[in-house]
Amino acid sequence: TSSAPIIAVDGPAASGKGTVAKALARHFGLPHLDTGLLYRAVALNLLRWGGDPDSEFAAVRACDFSQIDFDDPELRSEMTGGVASRVSVYPAVREALVQRQRDFAGQPGGAVLDGRDIGTVIAPDADAKLFVTASPEIRAERRHAELTGLGLAAHYEDVLIDIRARDERDSGRAAAPLVQAEDADLLDTSEMTIDAAVRRAIALVEARLKRSA
Ligand code: CDP
Ligand code: CDP
Repeated sequence: TSSAPIIAVDGPAASGKGTVAKALARHFGLPHLDTGLLYRAVALNLLRWGGDPDSEFAAVRACDFSQIDFDDPELRSEMTGGVASRVSVYPAVREALVQRQRDFAGQPGGAVLDGRDIGTVIAPDADAKLFVTASPEIRAERRHAELTGLGLAAHYEDVLIDIRARDERDSGRAAAPLVQAEDADLLDTSEMTIDAAVRRAIALVEARLKRSA
């Protein structure tokens, strides 16, 4: 019901889904979970433990959050994101992370989750679903600006190659691929400022919640 809504936000890397999800959480007074951080935590464990990302067994063993600080900036690095997209192809890794996400989505007061498969797999009955996109070039520009802003050297061309590789892996995998849910509203932020994207997202979600009320 719309008094305790579940809002699902999915989309490719650097589309703006995290920004939109946070703003929706603030607007509707809901808790927010960035599910990408869970896959990034698995990746960071592997990087730290010297585990092989090509081994499903090693990746499953790395599904352990006991030593993870979710504020660790290393979780946000492109290196971690790249390994995250490699370990997230394994069905056993996805299964190990499902319950935590469903529990979050099932909170009595409602919740906002963002990721790749929230509207399709984690919360298929969500009250409102957004699929946030932008062109690969724009997304690479945004990620490039973020990295240089953090003082990290990065070439735009390399960031674009990384983004395209991640898109291909995330959309092409068999288990929970990145795909727009049938009942999701599309939000293309290519030509939008953050403010415009957030305003549009709130309007789309409010319309959905009114319809389902
Ligand atoms: O922030 P960005 O969009 O670059 O990445 P992220 O959302 O932190 O996700 C990192 C990687 O985790 C993605 O490339 C996906 O492969 C994977 N992921 C996933 O498979 N399912 C999710 N619900 C969230 C992330
Ligand atoms: O969560 P996701 O990886 O999809 O993207 P994000 O972290 O929300 O946004 C990636 C970067 O693009 C951030 O630096 C945002 O401030 C920026 N952004 C933007 O420039 N214009 C938008 N309409 C949305 C986000």
